Amino acid sequence: MESLLIHGSVPLQGEVQISGAKNAALPIMAAALLTSEPCVIRRVPDLSDVRFMCRLLQSLGAEVEFNNGMVKICARELKPFADYELVRQMRASVCVMGPLLGRLRECVVSLPGGCVIGPRPIDLHLKGFAALSAQVKIEGGYVHAKADRLQGAEIFLGGRNGSTVLGTANVMMAAVLAQGETVIESAACEPEIVDLANFLKAMGAKIEGAGSPTIKIHGVEKLHGAEYEIIPDRIEAATYIIAVAATKGEAIIKGARPDHMHAVLDKLLEAGVLIDWNNKNGTIYVRGTENLKPIEVTTLPYPGFPTDVQAQLMALMTLAPGISVITERVFESRFMHISELTRLGAEIQLEGPTAIVKGGRPLSGAPVMASDLRASAALVIAGLAASGTTIVHRIYHIDRGYEKIDSKLAQLGARIQRIKGE
Ligand code: UD1
Repeated sequence: MESLLIHGSVPLQGEVQISGAKNAALPIMAAALLTSEPCVIRRVPDLSDVRFMCRLLQSLGAEVEFNNGMVKICARELKPFADYELVRQMRASVCVMGPLLGRLRECVVSLPGGCVIGPRPIDLHLKGFAALSAQVKIEGGYVHAKADRLQGAEIFLGGRNGSTVLGTANVMMAAVLAQGETVIESAACEPEIVDLANFLKAMGAKIEGAGSPTIKIHGVEKLHGAEYEIIPDRIEAATYIIAVAATKGEAIIKGARPDHMHAVLDKLLEAGVLIDWNNKNGTIYVRGTENLKPIEVTTLPYPGFPTDVQAQLMALMTLAPGISVITERVFESRFMHISELTRLGAEIQLEGPTAIVKGGRPLSGAPVMASDLRASAALVIAGLAASGTTIVHRIYHIDRGYEKIDSKLAQLGARIQRIKGE
């Protein structure tokens, strides 16, 4: 297993290029199963999750090639069965259910199993499929969904924590080939849902309202192949902005979509980080401050503050003198990073879904263990800001979602090295 060795306290400086969005790429790749014609998807990040999705699609019968940020998928042949051994390795595998059901009227897909960031049910996905007239049952750890024909319907997809991103994606992908009109209410509004809808439209689907809580889909007989380019990764961009701020550096983030990042940019401005952006050319200028201020923030579905940036922001707030209050409302137990941040000298107390960060004590390097994707990013940020040496173990988590993070950070002047770990 590999680790990252970081010699901290070096201000990050220079430019960094943002990759395509993982959370857009994964469902869009799955959506290519909706046609037997070839699809070409560009700006696909080279991540272990993307490579995994390639293998999953191949196991379903699709021909898949992935080279230089371009994925070609041709699902001439397609089987409805996704095995537990594959699905358990990546939760986002569940987003093959919608396309399989849409095209084959059947899917047999393993339930994904446990997840370190807390319970991640798929009841809303299944409720959506049932509303489209599929018979849905769970047997032997597998979801079996089958329909003679899918029938458009009005579907409320809100759950106890608000909308569901992959649930909305799944129902949308099944509904594009259903008969008649489907209306999804309380749909997820994330930019990745809009990106998926745009890809489906490029394939010939009829969809209105993506990006709002009401999505209308008019089912069509058949979809065709399409070429498409994925949006930039707003979570990766936020992570680099926070890393620059945490090291009191100065950098330009290039190829981003600042218009997808208002909640993050607004909070960082409130914390005193100097930020300026240009929506036209996608650059974000960041300069850290000596006078970081504590903040209060609650994670929410888009356009609220993203749960996927909660851990990274917490790492930054350990450096802001005073009390910051960070409440997690999407995945209420997504706090695995707290105990590791504490190992670097942070003072953080957890009260239910709220972390109270007593910031301002200097961090000092230590060996720490990555537990999930965004928690790992938080530990890297803390290690970059800490004095001395930090080793982040188990960085396969970070390779799931950050393309070449070590070389991108090194390009910004970080003293970071990938080493063979424990
Ligand atoms: C996606 C993202 C993930 C992000 C999350 C929230 C991908 C590949 N992953 O995950 O990075 O952290 O959105 O922005 O895009 N829920 C239910 N029932 C369901 C489905 C979800 O109760 O059937 C709950 C979840 O437990 C959670 C909330 O809804 O509390 C939001 O989860 P959801 O939006 O579905 O997350 P994912 O789509 O799995």
